[in-house]
Amino acid sequence: MIVVNPNPTSSPPREDVPPAGPSAFAAGSEHDDARRRAHAFRSGADRQFHGWAETYDRSLLNTFLFRPAYLALLEEIADWCGGEARSFRLLDIGCGTGSFAALVASADWPARITALDFVTSMCRKARDKAERVRPERPADVVNADSEHLPFADASFDLVTCSNSFHHYPHQDAVVAEMRRVLAPGGRLVLIDGFRDNAVGWFVFDVIIQRIEKNVHHAPWSLVRRLFEQAGFVNLRQRKINLLMPLLVTVGEAPTEAPHAGGTPA
Ligand SMILES: C[S@@+](CC[C@H](N)C(=O)[O-])C[C@H]1O[C@@H](n2cnc3c(N)ncnc32)[C@H](O)[C@@H]1O
Repeated sequence: MIVVNPNPTSSPPREDVPPAGPSAFAAGSEHDDARRRAHAFRSGADRQFHGWAETYDRSLLNTFLFRPAYLALLEEIADWCGGEARSFRLLDIGCGTGSFAALVASADWPARITALDFVTSMCRKARDKAERVRPERPADVVNADSEHLPFADASFDLVTCSNSFHHYPHQDAVVAEMRRVLAPGGRLVLIDGFRDNAVGWFVFDVIIQRIEKNVHHAPWSLVRRLFEQAGFVNLRQRKINLLMPLLVTVGEAPTEAPHAGGTPA
């Protein structure tokens, strides 16, 4: 099934981005800058990936960047399942052409898979792939912005996101959304370019930044802080992949809601 949101950018504005109006465009205002930056990130991603959807799966980056990330995600799912044939609800955010969702569907897991992307042509590719790989129970493909996930609280057991996070203008809001849709004990696995060593800095902050322009590869310490702020526990971070290094950050939604003040009984 594909759910196409005709205008995923029409979600409610964030607090720091006021609604359009004469005052919102006061020259030099911080709100104006935030709005422009968010617009540049979103329209940049839309342009880049709309044009790339057709040939994306043939890109050399699949070998050097995307596939190593899928393998790390699969490892984390296997670890979460702990060797049991556990059924789970998976949400893959920024799914692109749905390659990772297809890998999960073809593995032996009784998984209910949802894949989400902002760009409609990527969603179409993902839907076609999902129907080819597991026609009897294809993944749901949802066209939406990662910042406003169209799902109820605690709808998923696992949330994954690979090589997409640097396109998000409000990364804090996205991590908070990821946490919101995870059920207690659920796991978030986020993978993106590691820019904290010389190789990573050159690849992501120099080359990719020059090509993609409106993107931000967050340092490992910032990603960690965003996870903590959103309430994730049992955080782990590691670096994988030598030539195009990737940062894998894993966090879990607490199994019990924190006490609202006071000492636990
Ligand atoms: C480099 S691709 C990665 C795709 C896939 N995760 C993979 O590893 O092959 C980045 C994807 O992020 C998506 N994307 C960018 N901004 C987004 C946003 N705000 N919300 C959801 N998806 C977004 C793009 O449309 C694109 O498909």
